Amino acid sequence: MTDTTSNQMWGGRFAAGPDAIMEAINASIGFDKRMAAQDIAGSRAHAAMLAATGIVSDSDAEAMREGLLTVLSEIEGGSFEFSTALEDIHMNVEARLKAIIGEAAGRLHTGRSRNDQVATDFKLWVRDQLDATAKGLLALIDALLTQAEAGADWVMPGFTHLQTAQPVTWGHHMMAYVEMFGRDLSRVRDARARMNECPLGAAALAGTSFPIDREMTAKALGFDRPAANSLDAVSDRDFALEFLSTASLCAMHLSRMAEELVIWSSAQFRFVALSDRFSTGSSIMPQKKNPDAAELIRAKIGRIFGANVALMTVMKGLPLAYSKDMQEDKEQVFDAADNLMLALAAMEGMVRDMSAHRENLEAAAGSGFSTATDLADWLVRVLGMPFREAHHVTGSLVALAEGKGCDLPELNLEDMQAVHGDIDASVYDVLGVHNSVASRTSYGGTAPEQVRAQIARWKEALK
Ligand code: ARG
Repeated sequence: MTDTTSNQMWGGRFAAGPDAIMEAINASIGFDKRMAAQDIAGSRAHAAMLAATGIVSDSDAEAMREGLLTVLSEIEGGSFEFSTALEDIHMNVEARLKAIIGEAAGRLHTGRSRNDQVATDFKLWVRDQLDATAKGLLALIDALLTQAEAGADWVMPGFTHLQTAQPVTWGHHMMAYVEMFGRDLSRVRDARARMNECPLGAAALAGTSFPIDREMTAKALGFDRPAANSLDAVSDRDFALEFLSTASLCAMHLSRMAEELVIWSSAQFRFVALSDRFSTGSSIMPQKKNPDAAELIRAKIGRIFGANVALMTVMKGLPLAYSKDMQEDKEQVFDAADNLMLALAAMEGMVRDMSAHRENLEAAAGSGFSTATDLADWLVRVLGMPFREAHHVTGSLVALAEGKGCDLPELNLEDMQAVHGDIDASVYDVLGVHNSVASRTSYGGTAPEQVRAQIARWKEALK
């Protein structure tokens, strides 16, 4: 026992204060102080509503308003003294308000509870994060579009199983990530629209007998409407989970792209050079330039998806309505949000700065018999062969080239005709990588004209 005074906010029925361990496990102020601005915004909206409905006097509401602004400036200025004994941001703010304005502060908590208060604060915080995430995604998409535009017709190998498959264009590869991050953006927007209902006024769990105006507080805080069920309003953390699941998908996309940058920037691939600004050196090997930012982005999914799993696990099995378990929601979301923002910004910087080695991409695009499918398609189109037979004939030609240690375009016509007599010189037209990509004009295909059309569509959509 370290403290014998009972809590000034709820200690009426208590003869003794909490044990130090109780205080340590119970307090959230160490982290929920990040929601100070949201807490004060919520209290200001509540105070104004209490006056408008005649629940408190105009002069009390005015004192609350002034006092809350003072508390906010103390917190922002760093002079505010946070107290663990006061548990959380809600009671820290209210206690300080009381010290500044006196008795009137005691009327602020009329018709509300910390349960609807924390749900409101946290929703406001998550909503800001969704907006910041959307901004980060837009910046990254813009950087990818710039890369795609510059290299809409540069050829590079396309892979399946990380084995050379068919030539594709650099622009097409960049645009694949635009599609992925574009879906993340739409998930962020969906989540924001769905979560934008205000819990304030749900009170502890059952609503209140005071004639509050929930439309008014919802509107003041930028919500579309008040949440319709008070039990659900205080026990819902779907908005945090939707943020975390959206963040997890986005982090997974970032991780895949980061992995490609790690591979592409290696001495064995040399597809891209990362800028000095987004690389590090080795303290022992002077030649090294390491893609640390990409590696760390690749790893961020660990903690972000971990947060998603952690909060899902906290919430499963909780009976309605509020339980203190739910206090474990914030650190996970804060950490995931911080790291997602950092990963998005680092990826944007890397993508903006990186330069593709166009000649290396092109040389790699032609190796590994990457135009074998074009050859098979030619046999189908020009000689009228069934695709299965064409596949077989092409396989024999690949084996022949492999035996000779050359690529398909280097086989001479006699060699080809030895495999199939009807092959003529026009086959060479389809064996080059530029013709290969130019021929893939189907919607969404890798042909430069398709890539440019997709870039234009995205630019229009993002206007
Ligand atoms: N610090 C608490 C949390 O983060 C605030 C709500 C507390 N409510 C309560 N009834 N004890 O969840």
